[in-house]
Formats: sequence, C-alpha cells, structure tokens
Amino acid sequence: MKNLICLLIVLILFPALLAIYSFKSNDPSAANDSIHINGEATGKELALVYCKICHLFPEPALLDKKTWTTSVLPNMGLRLGIKQKDKDPFENLDSIDVEIVKRLNIYPANPIIMKEDWEKIVCVLQE
Ligand code: HEC
Repeated sequence: MKNLICLLIVLILFPALLAIYSFKSNDPSAANDSIHINGEATGKELALVYCKICHLFPEPALLDKKTWTTSVLPNMGLRLGIKQKDKDPFENLDSIDVEIVKRLNIYPANPIIMKEDWEKIVCVLQE
C-alpha cells in the first residue's frame, strides 16, 4: 500500500506540480520584475534583481540616507562580495560561527556583482 502511494506521488503528483509551476512561470504578468541585465540597466533595475536574490526589495525611502550609507549597504555589499575597507565581517563572531559562515559562503571572497553595477545600486539607495 505504502509503495503504491509513493508510486502515485512520483508518477502523478510530481509531474502535475511541475506542469503547474512551469505554466505559472510562463505567465507574462508574473515576469514584470525580471529584467535582462546589460550595461544599460539602471541602478533601480539592478537593485531589483540583486537585492531580490535574497529577500523582498526594500524601497529606498524606508531608511534614511545615513542608515543606508553607514550600515545596510556595507552589510549587503559584503554579502555580494564587495569588500569594505577596515570592515571584517567575521570580527564579532566566535570561531565556531566563523567556520560555519565561511562554509556557507555568506560573505563571498570574490564579488558576485560587477563593481560598476554595485556603484549604480548604491547611488539609487542613497538618494
Ligand atoms: C546574499 C543575500 C542578500 C542580498 C543580495 C541582499 N541582502 Fe539585504 N539582507 C540579507 C540578510 C541575510 C539580511 C538580514 C540579516 C542582517 O540584518 O544582517 C538582510 C537585511 C536587509 C535589510 C534590513 C536591515 C538590516 O540591515 O538588517 C535591508 C534594508 C536590506 N537587507 C536591504 C538590501 C538591499 C537594498 C539589497 C540590494 C542592494 C540587499 N539587501 C541585498 C541578505 C541579502
């Protein structure tokens, strides 16, 4: 009986879910936020892509300029591999946490965003 249920899930439910999912992702109204990144993308367009890799897009007006500049942007930059002068992302962690954070590659050693793109994003969010 158990085997039959498993077989049903694999043969029917899984393909059905896949079909629903691919149907949804073809829906043009769901693709409004996605853009093709090229050299012409604006800071806002780039922010919409990169920030949303990890969480919802926070509107620039949510925070004041100082908080963006001195706190959030350096923190998010580190998570995209943008190093900050004099800022060691591991400094307040104890050694076991350092090991875990490194293993998870939370602060990539190399940038995963082009420097110019990051600068465009920073400009938009500091307005
Ligand atoms: C690699 C994943 C990642 C990316 C990319 C990322 N964030 Fe975050 N963001 C996080 C995590 C994790 C937190 C919560 C942890 C923290 O606060 O350090 C967070 C928290 C925040 C917060 C809440 C305040 C804070 O410091 O906790 C804001 C605002 C924010 N992110 C804005 C942005 C913006 C704007 C971008 C794009 C430029 C961005 N994030 C890109 C992972 C990311």
